[in-house]
Amino acid sequence: MKTIYDVIVIGGGVIGSTIAWHLAKTKRKVLLLERGRLGQEASSAAAGMLGAELEMNEPGPFFQLCLESRSMYPTFAQELLEVTGIDIELTQNGILRLAQTEATASSLQKTVAWQKAHGGSATFLPAEYIKELEPTIGNTYGGIWIANDGNVNAALVARAVGKAASLTADVLEGTEVYDITLTNDDVTVHTALQHYRAKQIVLANGAFANRFLSALHMQPTLTSVKGQLLRILPHGSYQLTRTISSAHHYFVPKRDGSIIVGATEEYNSFSHTNTVSGLAQLLGAVQDVFPDFGEATFLSSWTGLRPLLPTRKPLIGAIATNPRALVAIGHFRNGILLSPVTATIITSFIEQQEQPTHHLAFQP
Ligand code: FAD
Ligand code: GLY
Repeated sequence: MKTIYDVIVIGGGVIGSTIAWHLAKTKRKVLLLERGRLGQEASSAAAGMLGAELEMNEPGPFFQLCLESRSMYPTFAQELLEVTGIDIELTQNGILRLAQTEATASSLQKTVAWQKAHGGSATFLPAEYIKELEPTIGNTYGGIWIANDGNVNAALVARAVGKAASLTADVLEGTEVYDITLTNDDVTVHTALQHYRAKQIVLANGAFANRFLSALHMQPTLTSVKGQLLRILPHGSYQLTRTISSAHHYFVPKRDGSIIVGATEEYNSFSHTNTVSGLAQLLGAVQDVFPDFGEATFLSSWTGLRPLLPTRKPLIGAIATNPRALVAIGHFRNGILLSPVTATIITSFIEQQEQPTHHLAFQP
């Protein structure tokens, strides 16, 4: 056991890599341990929506956190470009959330009301406006236009934050953590070949965090929610200009003209298999929302594992029993959106700065 690190971060997805990079910028000696390749799990699989308003059902600290992180993205993207040369393809082209039943239309009107009252940008559009905006969409009962949501290329975000971490911190890929020993004086992280010591650790290993939660005096209540996605290329020269979301699915246009279609929600699954029923569900959604897409080309399919806690919200901060251990887990459907704000919160915890009240809502 040689170097004593200031901080060891466990897990090299978007959350762990962004945290390692931000902490290294404070001149701390940081080690990032990833069992496989950086970004190999949920982070590279994600659809990349910055759906701060799209996926929120109630006002409160979580909605505030999502709006805050979305507003950080232009600077985050620019800094990643300058540091790594990687363009994460930030596209601020809004999201159109469709109502396919009358009941959904009235519930979306309520969503618009509370979101507007709490800093959101959504407005309700009647069916004829939707048809004008996107003539390829089948019949609707209207929908909401969320001008300020957008999307990025999640795989490029994962690659960029991984590279930024590698340029500033010690990064070890192919290094699985087996155990953590936490005392009042320090933390030891055990891998097959080495033990590493640090003053503090940050647990950021996504859907696999349960393995270490008992060692951190927390209940292992995290669940993995598998999502299947696919990519299509519309026929001819058609280009979808904005993300479309229906009741349970979304269609995210990417810079190359392809569209990511997602996603299933399969609880308690750690499998990485695309199934006939999963893909049939997604293709059915394509035909339902875009009746003319029968000739679109099927390009590829893949899966990812979302980390879900019982509150459906992340835990970000130091654990109650020992400030040497911090967690950044449970980002479920929004980890790409939330990576800049998560790294900021963890960094200010470690720097012992005061936190805004809405950040404290996510403390373990
Ligand atoms: P991960 O990316 O899973 O990273 C955890 C890392 O820890 C992995 O690389 C893993 O190998 C490593 N690890 C695990 N155990 C160990 C160990 N013992 N030792 C060392 N390393 C270990 N979010 C959005 O904001 N917008 C979206 O549009 C969006 N779409 C999504 C679509 C799907 C289908 C899915 C599955 C997710 C989507 N998400 C989206 C959610 C987002 O992908 C996740 O919330 C986010 O990637 C979680 O990041 P993470 O770094 O916590 O986890
Ligand atoms: N946020 C999209 C998903 O998790 O599928």
